[in-house]
Amino acid sequence: MNISSLIKEEILAQKAYAVENTSCPIKLDANENPLEMPASLRELFAARLASVPLNRYPEAGSPVLASRFAEAFGVGSDQIVLGNGSDELIQILCTAVARPEAEIMIPIPTFAMYRISAQNAGLKVSAVPLDGSFDLDLTAMRERIAAHPPVLTFLAWPNNPTGNCFSRDRIEAILREWPGIIVVDEAYFHFSGQTFLPLLGRHENLAVLRTLSKVGFAAMRIGLLIGPPALIHEIDKVRLPYNMNAMSQAAAGFYLDHEELFLDQAETIRRLRVELFAAMKTIPGIHPRPTDANFIFFDCDFDADRVYTKLMERGILIKNFNAPGTMKNFMRVTVGTREENSMFIEVLQDIIAK
Ligand SMILES: Cc1ncc(COP(=O)(O)O)c(C=O)c1O
Repeated sequence: MNISSLIKEEILAQKAYAVENTSCPIKLDANENPLEMPASLRELFAARLASVPLNRYPEAGSPVLASRFAEAFGVGSDQIVLGNGSDELIQILCTAVARPEAEIMIPIPTFAMYRISAQNAGLKVSAVPLDGSFDLDLTAMRERIAAHPPVLTFLAWPNNPTGNCFSRDRIEAILREWPGIIVVDEAYFHFSGQTFLPLLGRHENLAVLRTLSKVGFAAMRIGLLIGPPALIHEIDKVRLPYNMNAMSQAAAGFYLDHEELFLDQAETIRRLRVELFAAMKTIPGIHPRPTDANFIFFDCDFDADRVYTKLMERGILIKNFNAPGTMKNFMRVTVGTREENSMFIEVLQDIIAK
């Protein structure tokens, strides 16, 4: 039997999202929180998880959590839906809007899952390159919109991999002018401190994505979509009934009970980011770009593939974006612990000196 004759063309044409599985002692590739939960808190966490009844289905739709998060965000509990990571919410959004011939718009480079989820759902993708400062190119975007209005636009804010927040006034122009839903993905909110949440009441086409992955709960897969009730109502129909498993629900509740600690850790990471950025800046031939996230996008005057491989051989994993054209010799490094960052700097200097 020829399996590929049964699979959708959009899927056959894709490469699976590449996650580097090489185990390196210093892991600076996935924008995770490098700081561990203190041992005393881990014990409380273990006790919380141990109390989850494994023989029962989880609460469908996580209503208790939804209302706790809604209160924290100052929105109604009909304005929020939880997902198995924000990845799942991106997938659900794409599924919900995938009418025949519908198109989404994304700036590029940006988070890879927007394109992948859109294509899997049968959507067309209009990808508009960022300008020279990694900001939104409104003129180019407007031209595309005139030709084919997108049903959905994803704006990662701060953007991954470039690290910067696009100009607020450009996003506000998009909110005023664009047809379709505009998702401002604030996955890195804890490191930028900036949000579009207060504008929810003003723009009916705005939805905000959040995740707990970057503040210490990547393993638990907890994402949140906050938007107008009419959108959340439809999203709820696409969501599988038990999309948030009981462990993830317990973890999200635990996060809310101890949020202070994770916000402190984010603050520490912001300080470490300043140190790492300054250290990178002093290395000749390494050009870190301004960042509002927990990672630094940089290019170098050397062959990035060689630098990446040599770092990996020395036990340090970062993310390589090197490609012909505007991404030539670009890489991304996540802010690690102080020791990890020092090791990265030391090894990087050593590699490029040889
Ligand atoms: C911009 C952006 N959005 C969403 C995600 C996915 O996060 P989650 O772990 O909640 O699926 C990431 C992960 O790297 C990201 O960079």
